[in-house]
Amino acid sequence: MKALILAGGKGTRLRPITYSVAKQLVPVANKPVIEYGIEAIRESGVRDFGIIVGESEAEIRQALGDGSRWDAKFTFIRQDAPLGLAHAVRTAQPYLQDDRFIMYLGDNLIKGGVRELVREFEGGDFDASILLTHVPNPWEFGVAELEGDRVLRLEEKPKAPKSDLALVGVYLFTPLVFEAIKTLKPSFRGEYEITDAIQTLIDWGKDVRYEIVTGWWKDTGTVEAMLEANRLILEGMKHTVKGKIEDAKIEGPVTVEEGAKIVRSTVRGPAIIGAGCEILDSFVGPFTSIADRTRVKESEIEYSIVMDDCFIDNVDGRISGSLIGRGVTVTRSQGKPKSVCLVLGDNSSVVMP
Ligand code: TTP
Repeated sequence: MKALILAGGKGTRLRPITYSVAKQLVPVANKPVIEYGIEAIRESGVRDFGIIVGESEAEIRQALGDGSRWDAKFTFIRQDAPLGLAHAVRTAQPYLQDDRFIMYLGDNLIKGGVRELVREFEGGDFDASILLTHVPNPWEFGVAELEGDRVLRLEEKPKAPKSDLALVGVYLFTPLVFEAIKTLKPSFRGEYEITDAIQTLIDWGKDVRYEIVTGWWKDTGTVEAMLEANRLILEGMKHTVKGKIEDAKIEGPVTVEEGAKIVRSTVRGPAIIGAGCEILDSFVGPFTSIADRTRVKESEIEYSIVMDDCFIDNVDGRISGSLIGRGVTVTRSQGKPKSVCLVLGDNSSVVMP
């Protein structure tokens, strides 16, 4: 059994962050989102990983290394253009060869892991297996129609959904999927869709099974989803303080990494403060992740992700629901005129109070 993790794609919904950071490397609770998927798959015993990469190949290779950190072997596979999930699988065929494999979308997070799913697939004689989750808005997803323990039909964004069970970014395949992919035509959005490949297997009378997610599932493709994933991961974290606390209040579960300093401030968990950070005369509220070496001075922030090496200084009003990239400065103008001064990349968004 091999693993195929998809870490290519365009990441348009997460711009401008994805101009400089691959979306699979955006930190959730200070850890690149893709690492949660790698860990979940490793727990199921799989060691051979093919990692699909696109334009951000160098960055992803650099961040993940050769897999030895997880006692695994990584093979990076370049996808020429982000032409869809099924195209990514086709690109990986020379690597996957005759093995069965678990395919995992590199920007997805699943609580509860994939161990059970992998075990059943290894032990069974199915042609494919998919993971499903109950959603309140099935018309926005690929939706499964079921009969007993089999999948009868898949529909992409149906107007009248046959169930509330949406496809999650985890699939198990035998090499038969390559045959199905060969027959595909691009969809209306110009991509080779994996749902079409699975539907083809069903149309051929093949045995496609499913599992329903027991914990939660998040696709972190948008800022809202990324913040929500951050909240869910932080909620499960324990209280660990390695940094220095001086004249400060730490409430609830908070992780303070080595070399971080919290002075005359309140940090209300769940939250994580990265190595070498400085929180001075500030408030850090629940569901906030602050990455390494960031400084927060005389400011308030909650329900946000702040990446490495930022400086948040003397900000009027509380920063909330924000995703802040690396090396960003947010500060207040001194003196007159009291103006708002912005240096923003393409597709940035600012919401003023
Ligand atoms: P998506 O989020 O569906 O697509 P995207 O990354 O292009 O993002 P956006 O819609 O915001 O432009 O992709 C899911 C995962 O699969 C993600 O980790 C990227 C990866 N992927 C590939 O590796 N190759 C591809 O051709 C596509 C479309 C996605």
